[in-house]
Amino acid sequence: MTIRVGFLGAGTVGGSLLRRLVEQNDAIATKSGVELDVHRVAVRDVGKARDVALGDGVLTADPRDVVTDPDVDLVVEVMGGLDPAGDLVLAALQSGKPVVTANKALIAARGRELIEAAEAAGVSLLFEAAVGGGIPIIRPLSQSLAGEQITRVMGIVNGTTNFILTKMIEDGLPYHGVLAEAQELGYAEADPTADVSGADAAAKAAILASLAFGIWVGFDRVHHEGIDQLEQIDFEFAANLGYRPKLLAIAEQGPGGIAVRVHPALVPSEHPLASVRGATNAVFVEGPAIGELLFTGPGAGGDPTATAVLGDVLHAARELLAKTPAKAPIRFAPGTIVEFDDVATKWYLRLEVADRPGVLARIASTFGDHRVSIKSVWQEGRGDRATLLLVTHDALERDLRAARAALDGLEVVGQVAAVIRVQSDEP
Ligand SMILES: NC(=O)c1ccc[n+]([C@@H]2O[C@H](COP(=O)([O-])OP(=O)(O)OC[C@H]3O[C@@H](n4cnc5c(N)ncnc54)[C@H](OP(=O)(O)O)[C@@H]3O)[C@@H](O)[C@H]2O)c1
Repeated sequence: MTIRVGFLGAGTVGGSLLRRLVEQNDAIATKSGVELDVHRVAVRDVGKARDVALGDGVLTADPRDVVTDPDVDLVVEVMGGLDPAGDLVLAALQSGKPVVTANKALIAARGRELIEAAEAAGVSLLFEAAVGGGIPIIRPLSQSLAGEQITRVMGIVNGTTNFILTKMIEDGLPYHGVLAEAQELGYAEADPTADVSGADAAAKAAILASLAFGIWVGFDRVHHEGIDQLEQIDFEFAANLGYRPKLLAIAEQGPGGIAVRVHPALVPSEHPLASVRGATNAVFVEGPAIGELLFTGPGAGGDPTATAVLGDVLHAARELLAKTPAKAPIRFAPGTIVEFDDVATKWYLRLEVADRPGVLARIASTFGDHRVSIKSVWQEGRGDRATLLLVTHDALERDLRAARAALDGLEVVGQVAAVIRVQSDEP
C-alpha cells in the first residue's frame, strides 16, 4: 500500500524533501519497504518556479486543501510559524492524519496541546527536525533514553550564532560586520532577530527540556538572551583567561526543580563545546547511568533537515501500515521549573575603575554584601583608570544583578562594562 503525503510548505526544507521523494522514490522504497507518494503540496505562491516536477493539480495555495483531503494519509508541516501552521496541524491530527513537522516555534509554543491531540486521535506527531536539523536528538531523548534519569542537556543549538561567534573569535571582527557577512553567505536570515536574540535556541531548549525531564516546559518558561551585546574585547580577555564565548542552551535538574535557559556563556577552552565551530550544533546529554553523550552535526540546512523529516515520515508511514494506534513516547508529569532569578552560575565581569589604593577592597566588599564571592581578579592597564576582570564563584542571578547595581553606584567604578556567565563544572 502506498502512503499519500501532503505537504504544508515547499521551501528550503520542504523543497529538499520533495526532490528526494520525487527523484529517489524507488531507492527509498527499496531500503525502507515503504512506498510514498506526493499527493498535495500547499505553498503561498503557486506561480513560483520550483526545481522539482510535480504532477498537475498537486500544488495548491490553500493549505486547508491538504489537511481536509481524504486521500492525504500523512501531513508534513514545513511552512513554519505559529499561524496558520498550528491550527492546520491540529486539524490534521484531529482528522486522524499523523503529522511530521520541523517547526520548533510551534512545538515549543503548542507542543503539549498538539501531542495530546495526537494521542487522542491515535496518530503520531513527530518533530525530529525541530531541534538540531539533521542531528538525531529527539528520538534518542524520547525513546532510547526514556529509562535514564537525565540530569542535564546542554549545547549549541543555533548554527547562525555559532557561526557569528566563531568568526568574531577567529578573525577578530566586530559583531555587526560578521552578521552582515553571515547574511551574505546565507547563514543568517535577512531578519536575524530570532537567531541572534536567542529565541530560536530557547524554543529548542524548551523542547529538549520537556523530553529530557518529562515535564512540559513551554517557550515562555525559558529565559533567553542573545549575542548582540557581546563585545570583541571580552573575547580577547576571555581567551587569555582560558575561555571561549558560546550561546548555550542549558536544561538541568537541580534540587529545586528544573532550570532551563539560553544565554551567552564563557566555556573553558578545553571543553568539547568550545571547539564546536561554524554552523555546527552539538548537544550533551548527561545522566547517572550513561555518563555523557554528545550529539553533533549540521544543525540546519535544507538537505540535513529533510533527512530528519524523512526519517519521521517513514516511521509514521510504518505505523499507518501496521494499523495500530500510535502512542506518544512521553507523558508529561507535573514538576517545578525554577525561576530564573534562583539559578546560580559563575560570572565574568569587566569593570572600568579608578586605579588607586582601596578600590579593590571596596569592590570586594560590595560583592560580599550581595553574597557574591570572587574567585579570581586580574587588573589591566595603569594610570588613573584601570580595567578589572573578575570571575566569581557560583552566585544567584538575583544576587549578581543587585551587586551589579550597587557597583554601578560606587564612585570608584566608572562602569560595569561587561557581565557574562561562565559555564564551568569546576568548584
Ligand atoms: N531551513 C532550515 O535550515 C531549517 C532547519 C530546521 C528547521 N526548520 C524549520 O522548518 C520549517 C520550514 O523552514 P524553511 O526554511 O523550509 O522555510 P521557507 O523556506 O520559508 O519555506 C516555507 C514554505 O511554506 C510556504 N508557506 C508559508 N506560509 C504559507 C501559507 N500561509 N500558506 C501556504 N504556504 C505557505 C512557502 O510558500 P512559497 O514557497 O510559495 O513561499 C514555502 O514553500 C520552519 O518551521 C523552520 O523553523 C528549518
